[in-house]
Amino acid sequence: MTTLNVMTLPGDGIGPEVMDVAIRVLRTLCDVHRIALHLDTGLIGGAAIDDCVRPLTDETIAMCRNADFTLLGAVGGPKWDNVTYDRRPEAGLLKLRKDLDLFANLRPAIVFDALIDASTLKPDIIRGLDIMIVRELTGGVYFGEPRGIEDLPNGEKRGFNTQTYTTSEIERIGRVAFDLAHLRRGHVTSCEKANVMESGVLWRQVMTALHNRDYADTKLDHMYADNCAMQLLKNPAQFDVIVTDNLFGDILSDEAAMLTGSLGMLPSASLGSETGNGKRAAVYEPVHGSAPDIAGKDIANPLAMVLSLAMALRYSIKRGDLADQVENAVKKTLDNGYRTRDLAGQNDTTHITYVSTSEMGDLVIQNLSI
Ligand code: IPM
Ligand code: MN
Repeated sequence: MTTLNVMTLPGDGIGPEVMDVAIRVLRTLCDVHRIALHLDTGLIGGAAIDDCVRPLTDETIAMCRNADFTLLGAVGGPKWDNVTYDRRPEAGLLKLRKDLDLFANLRPAIVFDALIDASTLKPDIIRGLDIMIVRELTGGVYFGEPRGIEDLPNGEKRGFNTQTYTTSEIERIGRVAFDLAHLRRGHVTSCEKANVMESGVLWRQVMTALHNRDYADTKLDHMYADNCAMQLLKNPAQFDVIVTDNLFGDILSDEAAMLTGSLGMLPSASLGSETGNGKRAAVYEPVHGSAPDIAGKDIANPLAMVLSLAMALRYSIKRGDLADQVENAVKKTLDNGYRTRDLAGQNDTTHITYVSTSEMGDLVIQNLSI
């Protein structure tokens, strides 16, 4: 690779603060490994609404498409509660996913040993936990038509959305899940509500057929999504890869995230299809939101953003060595007892030092061991 082209969309709330840390980590890595880095930045969400009324412009989307990958902070906040529905900050995020066809959302939930106390679950339940949630991101009820709120003759209103999935949409997310399982422990759990929804019946049929046809060497289980929510709390170690639709994936990934102690630790990757030259559009962002209540205070946890950068290095530029370096630096920083406030443990307060967002960034950079 000649020059690494990275697009950044810091967004709203704590987005800019955590992005700042990720960019510092990236710059350090590029300096050390003599990688020429070109950074661009754009507006998304409320920041874009303030600037140009819309939460994401086509020019910004084009810049994301042309970059090797995009890093995104977070969008939204109470300031924009009253903008029209189709121009709310979240609409920018959904448009980015749809326009770049980022159908595969990877949300790993990993418990760092040092953070076992930060989880509300018993240590024995979550020790060594390593789950990959694969969420379909451009279909289902998030985008299905028809949708809307209509007036009924009796003076009532009716709100409606459509849950829809086609064979090919299910198949392509299934392939992502099975391919990941090959690199992990070889076990996929597919979640839907086939007991209630036809879209779930089709989901189950397509996953079964795909498994029989191309992935018989992996293990496939089906599970109703409500049961999966329960099993995640009861016995999370049973899961390796969970594949599910857009809405269930949204909910189950928040739940899985909390197993790890803090939403502030969870990265994600949103990937498009591979094009001929091996490139694919990709956006990497923390699972957490914009946390407007703590924005600007330099107390947010930047580690989800830093770990999102690690995923970008691994998946978009195939530099697993650099990703390992970043992930090990995060682990070492935690092992040394440094925490942001969100990671306050239930009992262990000895040997813990609370640090700010920017100090956490400094520590991770020191621990890159270069
Ligand atoms: C997420 C978020 C988004 C979603 C919102 C902000 C639109 O909750 O990425 O999980 O619902 O997909
Ligand atoms: Mn969510």
